[in-house]
Amino acid sequence: MKRIFITGAAGFIGFHLARQLKKRGDFVLGVDHFNSYYDPQLKKARALELQKAGVQVETLDIIERDKLKLLLMKHGITHLVHLAAQAGVRHSILHPDDYVSSNLEGFVSILEVLRLFPSIKLTYASSSSVYGLNQKTPFHVSDRTDQPANLYGATKKANELMAHAYHHLYGTSVTALRYFTAYGPWGRPDMAYYTFTKKICAGEPIPVFNYGRMKRDFTYIDDIVNGTVAAIDLEAPCEIFNLGNHCPVSLLSLIQTLEEALGKEAIQEMLPMQTGEVLETFADIEKSQTLLNFHPRVSLQEGILQFVDWFKWYHRVPIYTHYAMKGTISS
Ligand SMILES: NC(=O)c1ccc[n+]([C@@H]2O[C@H](COP(=O)([O-])OP(=O)(O)OC[C@H]3O[C@@H](n4cnc5c(N)ncnc54)[C@H](O)[C@@H]3O)[C@@H](O)[C@H]2O)c1
Repeated sequence: MKRIFITGAAGFIGFHLARQLKKRGDFVLGVDHFNSYYDPQLKKARALELQKAGVQVETLDIIERDKLKLLLMKHGITHLVHLAAQAGVRHSILHPDDYVSSNLEGFVSILEVLRLFPSIKLTYASSSSVYGLNQKTPFHVSDRTDQPANLYGATKKANELMAHAYHHLYGTSVTALRYFTAYGPWGRPDMAYYTFTKKICAGEPIPVFNYGRMKRDFTYIDDIVNGTVAAIDLEAPCEIFNLGNHCPVSLLSLIQTLEEALGKEAIQEMLPMQTGEVLETFADIEKSQTLLNFHPRVSLQEGILQFVDWFKWYHRVPIYTHYAMKGTISS
């Protein structure tokens, strides 16, 4: 049995990971500072679900090192999964300062605390955003990551560099996971699949940037969690993995999949490309397949149906907002 500490446990990925680890019998303790980047009620609701499953999520900002130390010591932690961060590409253009505290100071805080606990293995969230302007697809872990397209990507790359330095200096065990557009039930309300769903249900137009000619490697949350659990178990000294679906999907296909799952047509507002965005993300997962036995299984169609089911339940979407479209699915 492992004793696992998860930062950002009330977040989307942290919530699912904590549930899975608890289910398999690990001791799991979470922390989160419940910021208001998106509705904190959703984070509270996730924390409540975790509490029901036997996982506590304490309120803590990861820059509070003394409290972190006490928790790691008190609970005899063996593994730390660091997911707490200020996420979001768009937000990093509008609110750059929000990324300094959680993503830079916060990451140093985690590394500094781990110096005192050399036996604790660190697994942390990086991002497909580190590939930035890299044009070569699929993105291989050894591809260029020195041309970020936005500050969010730059902070995630900085995390990888800092982790390497601490591994080199102090032998800290560090594994980076470059997540590719995770989606699913209990997901993040700032992400396109979520905002589109909300707008389609409300009959509002959805903004389709670059006229829909962008591709993302959407990766279902259960696949993300399976890859993360395998990385925790691997206990590698210093590695980087891509966790993506290896199957990029265009924005227009995403919209069509949502329309079919919701049984309602979207009103599309075609717009030019936004600054800071990239045209395509596409994970090369050969290394993850070999070392983590990572084989993503959930198609976008299946995953979006799961998300839409949850969305209707969570937001109490009344049945009368749905109507069958072109004879396709109406769940
Ligand atoms: N979801 C994705 O598609 C995706 C893709 C690539 C990378 N990531 C990374 O994976 C991690 C988890 O992402 P997510 O989608 O679950 O995001 P999320 O925003 O749902 O979860 C992050 C959680 O961290 C918490 N947090 C932020 N700063 C904190 C601090 N200083 N102290 C304590 N808690 C803090 C937030 O309150 C939030 O609950 C993040 O590091 C994110 O950058 C996510």
